[in-house]
Amino acid sequence: MTALSNHETIAVIGSGAMGSGIAQVAACAGHPVWLYDAKDGAAAQGRANILASLDRLVSKGKVNEDERNTIASRISVASSLSVMTDARLVIEAIVENLEVKRAVFSELEGIVSPSCILATNTSSLSVTAIAAGLEFPGRLAGFHFFNPAPIMKLVEIVSGLASEPTTLDTLYDTALAWGKEPVRATSTPGFIVNRVARPFYAEALRLLEEGAASVATIDAVIKESGGFRMGPFELMDLIGHDVNFAVTRSVFEAYFGDPRFRPSLTQQELIAAGWLGRKTGRGFYNYTADAPQQSPDTASPSQIPAFVVIEGNLGPAEALVGELEAKGLMTVTREAGTGHIRIPGATLALSDGRTATSRATGGDRPDLILFDLALDYTKASRIAIAPADQAPSSALSAALGLFQSLGMAVSVIDDVPGLIVLRTLAMLANEGAEAALQQVASPTDIDRAMTLGVNYPRGPLSWADQIGAARILTVLENLQMSYGDDRYRASQFLRRSVNAQHSLHPQASPDAIN
Ligand code: NAI
Repeated sequence: MTALSNHETIAVIGSGAMGSGIAQVAACAGHPVWLYDAKDGAAAQGRANILASLDRLVSKGKVNEDERNTIASRISVASSLSVMTDARLVIEAIVENLEVKRAVFSELEGIVSPSCILATNTSSLSVTAIAAGLEFPGRLAGFHFFNPAPIMKLVEIVSGLASEPTTLDTLYDTALAWGKEPVRATSTPGFIVNRVARPFYAEALRLLEEGAASVATIDAVIKESGGFRMGPFELMDLIGHDVNFAVTRSVFEAYFGDPRFRPSLTQQELIAAGWLGRKTGRGFYNYTADAPQQSPDTASPSQIPAFVVIEGNLGPAEALVGELEAKGLMTVTREAGTGHIRIPGATLALSDGRTATSRATGGDRPDLILFDLALDYTKASRIAIAPADQAPSSALSAALGLFQSLGMAVSVIDDVPGLIVLRTLAMLANEGAEAALQQVASPTDIDRAMTLGVNYPRGPLSWADQIGAARILTVLENLQMSYGDDRYRASQFLRRSVNAQHSLHPQASPDAIN
């Protein structure tokens, strides 16, 4: 265990949202803390914000008055960097600008002892570049907290090219000692979370741009069927489009224009309009008091079919069979087949990344209606379905009745490849696989980072294992074929796992369905 002991001093540079939060974490863990900001009065304000946050903990009964006062007494405002000679660890959380950060670290090297660790909370700059030019670049690493730092458990420990193992191990163990859940990543654009999360926004934006469904419908399907805590549009509105677009753009440019990270014109237009999200009162949603509510499109009730025939195994959607049987509203029989649900007047199937229209042209029945993936079909309260262009309207009504009989709200969307949840998961898993391939982090840390940093209901790699990596590969190949876009190219890590029949995630669930 190489965690810093809690009598050692931590210095935090920059007392904005992140710096104050990190200083609070360090002080709560027992360390004396210096808090410094270049702007007059900002560090004192940062300290006052920490005290207000501690007061809220007192009123909730999570901290008592004495503890609050002890924690407060550990935090000192530094009038200049030069007073920080006793710091054992300096954490920089200033403006996201390479030259400014390099200048601060270079000045610090003349103040702190040679054994002092230098850490940056940068979310998008190269840790290697921040360290370059230092006398001892091996002592610098990324220490990437998530907002709000006192609450979010995840910390990415980011190694630059020159970072020494002892620096990284000390930061890792110190994060653990502070009650955080650290993961290790290499200094690559977006590290883990800000990279692997890109498709969550990008696929929603693309679906919207293609008129697949409305903003509120896509958000509702992602939450109520995909099990995500927030929809992509709500989340972008919360983050702020200026910030979210800047991250996408910086990752896109850092990867020399890789189409996987291509920014969205729609989001750029929002920024041009000044519709930055919640903070300006308008983004994809309108937050002004008298604005009409944007509701998801939900089909009106349809007749429940008289019987259902399950043809073959439904793979990840197999749980639907038990649900239909349990409801007892229609006779359920099984026949041999290739994963279809047949009801009078319609044929249903889980999407495989092709459109219903192309499947109906290429061998499936013309009354084909595709449905989306759900995280858990026994709990999903909504499902997205898409009819083939050839399907008569009676086929759509029949399909609605089937899902409504299970108590699900049904959103009919346009016949887009991979629908909403399946396509989002396939792209998240592919990005996770690519990050693993490029040694950004281990599959375990990638999954942990995505569940802890952005609250995904499952890590994308173990989720892909559960529904079958081969199925995800098929979805990606079909998406790439549908669009002819390199953005959907499957990662070699995914292909190799499928060929070798290995799981993407080492602790993959044994209940994988293939
Ligand atoms: P902020 O704008 O709230 O605070 C930055 C503070 O740094 C300001 O108080 C500013 O006066 C001060 N500052 C600027 N230049 C300085 C200098 N040369 N010396 C000392 N202080 C200086 O910014 P925020 O959001 O706290 O971000 C800080 C860093 O943390 C950035 O690198 C950002 O990318 C990163 N980050 C931000 C997250 C977020 O959600 N806001 C999440 C994770 C990382």
